[in-house]
Amino acid sequence: MDLIFLGPPGAGKGTQARWIIEEFKTPQISTGDIIRAAIRDHSPLGKEFKSYTDAGKLVPDDLVNRMVEDRLAQPDCKGGFLLDGFPRTVVQAKALDKMLEKAGRSLDHVLLLEVDDAVLVERITGRRSDPETGNVYHIKFNPPPADIADRLIQRSDDTEEVLRQRLDEYHAKTSPLIPFYEEKGLLRRIKGVGTPENIRDLIFGVLKG
Ligand code: AP5
Repeated sequence: MDLIFLGPPGAGKGTQARWIIEEFKTPQISTGDIIRAAIRDHSPLGKEFKSYTDAGKLVPDDLVNRMVEDRLAQPDCKGGFLLDGFPRTVVQAKALDKMLEKAGRSLDHVLLLEVDDAVLVERITGRRSDPETGNVYHIKFNPPPADIADRLIQRSDDTEEVLRQRLDEYHAKTSPLIPFYEEKGLLRRIKGVGTPENIRDLIFGVLKG
């Protein structure tokens, strides 16, 4: 299955993606994770990325499009993929259409996780991740085991101030993708509030229905 995960920062895309890739055996392609890996490597591109992510701004389309095109050409994407955090602009969505057309494939579903902005502030500021396993926790909603609490890190863009900027970017540049995919008959709206397990079951219902 060729899938896109759409939704504001903190909607739960990464949390749900873990279950989807396990159930449907498809790779998760998270542009945010690829960008953060480049930043950790201190590559020249990573330094450029950091100036955008730390400001809560989107990285320029051409850079992200090239990254995704390379990733989709990898053999593990042959049977399907879950794009998490891409596309995020109409320019990116049109570039993706071209990539898929060239490869003779098409999207099956675009999953939209809907969560109000007020809920997202608490989710994002309480998020912590484990650099050793990649597991993501929340200090209130999904507390980490006590023995690993000391090694957890907080993303540098997970402050309330940067989140406000990320939300502005989402509403201005990413939300136009909702009518874009609705017109194509691909959009599946999922309420992203409730327990992660309940939301997972709603998503599985859509994907298996
Ligand atoms: P990216 O890494 O994609 O961040 P994002 O879209 O802002 O999404 P998040 O990872 O913040 O949230 P999520 O929806 O995955 O939530 P999670 O499951 O962790 O992008 C970062 C930056 O990279 C961008 O700002 C931009 O600069 C750049 N970038 C990336 N892609 C780009 C692109 N295509 N073009 C241009 N620039 C790009 O959950 C959040 C927290 O809530 C966790 O603590 C979790 O435990 C908790 N939680 C999850 N579900 C629930 C629930 N149901 N109830 C309670 N708590 C919950």
